[in-house]
Amino acid sequence: MSERRFGIIGIGNMGSAHAVSFFEGKVEGAILSAIADVDEGRRAWASEKFGSSVEVIEDYHNLLSQAKIDAVLIATPHYSHTRIAMEALEAGLHVLIEKPAGVDAAEVRLMNETASKHKDLAFGIMFNQRTNPLFGALRHYVKLGVLGEIKRFNWIINNWYRTQSYYDSAGWRASWSGEGGGVLLNQCPHNLDIWQWIMGMPATLQAFCKVGHFHDIAVEDDVTIYAEYESGASAVFITSTGECPGTNRIEISGTMGKAVAEDGVLKLFLLDEDERKICYTSPEAMPLKRVTRVNLKFPDAPNGHVRILQNFVNHILTGEELIAPGVEGINSLRISNAAYVSSWLGKEVEVPADEATFTALLSEKQRSEIQNSTRRNAPPAHNAATGTYSERWNVRW
Ligand SMILES: NC(=O)c1ccc[n+]([C@@H]2O[C@H](COP(=O)([O-])OP(=O)(O)OC[C@H]3O[C@@H](n4cnc5c(N)ncnc54)[C@H](O)[C@@H]3O)[C@@H](O)[C@H]2O)c1
Repeated sequence: MSERRFGIIGIGNMGSAHAVSFFEGKVEGAILSAIADVDEGRRAWASEKFGSSVEVIEDYHNLLSQAKIDAVLIATPHYSHTRIAMEALEAGLHVLIEKPAGVDAAEVRLMNETASKHKDLAFGIMFNQRTNPLFGALRHYVKLGVLGEIKRFNWIINNWYRTQSYYDSAGWRASWSGEGGGVLLNQCPHNLDIWQWIMGMPATLQAFCKVGHFHDIAVEDDVTIYAEYESGASAVFITSTGECPGTNRIEISGTMGKAVAEDGVLKLFLLDEDERKICYTSPEAMPLKRVTRVNLKFPDAPNGHVRILQNFVNHILTGEELIAPGVEGINSLRISNAAYVSSWLGKEVEVPADEATFTALLSEKQRSEIQNSTRRNAPPAHNAATGTYSERWNVRW
C-alpha cells in the first residue's frame, strides 16, 4: 500500500481546509478516509462534501479505534490536542497536531514523552510558517554566523488584527477555560516558534500581558515580552490583535551587522569587521564603517499548510526530515507559559517557568471565570467553515 489513510478530528475552520486538501488530492500519497466532529452541523457538511468515501463519526474515540486509518490530524480547540494526540499514538497512529501543541507545557511534556515511546510513529505539528522562505533564510544566516554574535532580537508582530465578531465566533475562544489564553496562545504560537527556531530559547523573560485591552474578552490581546539569553543577548517581542494597520518587522543585530525583515524583504547590513573589535581598537570615537547592503526579496508562500501536510506524508513514506517535529511544539508554549506567569506575578521568570506554578495560576483564572460567570460559553450559532485556507493564516507583511 503506497497511500496513507488520514482521519481528521475537528473539522471547523482549520480542519475542514485540511480535509479538502486531502480530498482534492493536493497531498500526494495520502487520502482522506474518516472525519470526527462533535458538532452535528459540521458532520452534515462533511457528509455532503465528501460523500460515502469518507466515514463521518461523532466520537473521536470511535475514529481512533475503528476507522480504517494510518494517521490522524487533530484540529480541535487547543485544550484537547495533547489528550487526543496521546490516545492516537497509543492506538498506533501517526499524529499531526494543529498548533499550539497544547495549553499547559506540563501536559505537552507528557505528550512528548508518549511520542518518544513510539519512535516508529510520525509526530508533527502544523507550524506552516516554518515553510516561509524568508524565515528559513533568516534562520540560515543567523546559524551560519553571518551576523556575528547576536546582540538583540526584536519582533513587532501586531498585524494579527481581529474584531469582536471574531472572538464571538466560537464559544471556546478568548477565555481561560475555553482557550487558555489570548493572542499569545492563538495567533502567536507561529511567531514564538519562529523566534525560538531562529534564536533558540531565552533564559529569562518579563512580560506585560494586557487583558481585554482592545476587545471585550477575558484574556490578553496586547503583549510586550522582554527576554534575555544566557549569551547576554536580549529580545523584545511585541504583539496585539487590536492595532490596524499592524506591523510585521523583525530586526536582529549582531557583532557583524544586522538583518531586517519587513514587507516580505530581508535586508542585510553587513560590516567588514567585528564591531566588538572596532569598539576596542579604533582610535576614533564614532568611526564610519563601510556597510554592505543586500536586499533579498522572497516569493509569497501561500501554501504553507499543504507543504506541512506533504512533508508529514513524505516523512512517513520516505523518511524525509520533518519541517516541524511535534516535540518542538513545547518550545513556543514554554515561552507563552512563562509570559503568563511573569505577567500574573509581575516579575521576571525563568524559561521554562515552573510548571506547577503555571498550572495552579491558570486553574485560579479558570475558577474565577466560572465563579464570576465571565466564562464565554455561548456556542456559535453556526460554524460556517467552508474548507478553504483563510488569508489570515498566512504570513502577512
Ligand atoms: N495552523 C494554522 O494556521 C491555524 C489556523 C487556524 C486555526 N488553527 C488551530 O486549529 C485549531 C482549531 O481551530 P479552528 O479555528 O478550526 O476552530 P473551530 O472552532 O472552527 O473548529 C474546531 C472544531 O473542533 C470540533 N471539536 C471540538 N471538540 C471536539 C472533540 N472532542 N471531538 C471532535 N471534534 C471536536 C468542533 O465542533 C469544531 O468543529 C485550534 O487549535 C487553532 O489554534 C491553526
